[in-house]
Amino acid sequence: MSLLEKLRLDRIPQHVAIIMDGNGRWARKRGNDRSVGHERGLDAVRDVVEGACDVGIKYLTLYAFSTENWNRPKEEVQALMSLLVYAISNETENLNKNNVRLLTIGDTDSLPPEVQENLEQSKSRLSKNTGLDLVLALSYSSRWEILKAVKTIGSKIGDGSISSDSVTEETFTNYLNTSGIPDPELLIRTSGELRISNFLLWQIAYAELYFSPILWPDFRKEDLFEALYDFQQRERRFGKTSEQIQNENA
Ligand code: IPE
Ligand code: IPE
Ligand code: MG
Repeated sequence: MSLLEKLRLDRIPQHVAIIMDGNGRWARKRGNDRSVGHERGLDAVRDVVEGACDVGIKYLTLYAFSTENWNRPKEEVQALMSLLVYAISNETENLNKNNVRLLTIGDTDSLPPEVQENLEQSKSRLSKNTGLDLVLALSYSSRWEILKAVKTIGSKIGDGSISSDSVTEETFTNYLNTSGIPDPELLIRTSGELRISNFLLWQIAYAELYFSPILWPDFRKEDLFEALYDFQQRERRFGKTSEQIQNENA
C-alpha cells in the first residue's frame, strides 16, 4: 500500500506550514554556490504544492524569506530576490492550472519593487481560484507581526475606537498578517534544525511539530505525505486527558 493510500483523507490538516531549510548546505555539499541550492529548492516547492493539492490541504504556508535573512551577504539576498521574480512569473500559470490562490504574509513593502509588482500581478491573476491557498512568508518575522498588531490595537484603544475588553484571542488574530487563515495544525521544518526561527509564533501555539532531516531541495510530495501520516498517528489533546479525547471520539 502506498503512503498516499494509507493517509486518511478525512483527517488531513487544513493548514500546513513549512520552514524550508537546508538549501545552502545542499549546494555546498556539491561544491556549488549557495544560490544553486535556492534554485533547486524551487523544484521542491513545485512538487510539494502539487502534493498539497493532491490530498486537499486548504492552506500551505511556506517560509521563503525571513526578516533576519536580510542580514545575509548582499549577493545571496540579490540572488534570492531574482529567483523570486523568476519563480513568480514562471510558476503562475502552473499554479492557475492547479486552482491555487496566492497570498503573502510579512513586510512585503520592504521587497524590491520588481518583486512586489510580480507578486501583485500573480496574486490578481490567481485571485478567483478556489483550491489551495498558497501563503508565502516573505520578509516575515513573527515578533514584527505581533508587535505591529499590539501597536494598532494600542492606538485604537487610545483614540477610543475599541475598548480593551473587546481584545480577545479571536479579535487579536484579526490584526495579524494571517487574519482569516486558521492556525496551522502541522509545522514541518526540513534540514534537521530544531528551532522555529521567528515563524508564526502566535499561530503555532498548538501545532504538531515535525522535523525532517531532509535538505529542502530533496524534499518531495512523498515526504510531505510521510509527515501527514505521522501527524495522523498523533493524539492532539489540547490540555485534556487521553481518556477524554478517546471518549469524545467514541
Ligand atoms: C533556506 O535554506 C532558504 C532560506 C533561508 C532563504 P538556507 O539558505 O537557510 O540553507 P542552509 O540552512 O544554510 O543550509
Ligand atoms: C529560516 O531559515 C527562514 C527560512 C526558511 C526562510 P534560516 O536558515 O534563516 O534560519 P536560522 O537562521 O538557521 O535559524
Ligand atoms: Mg538555513
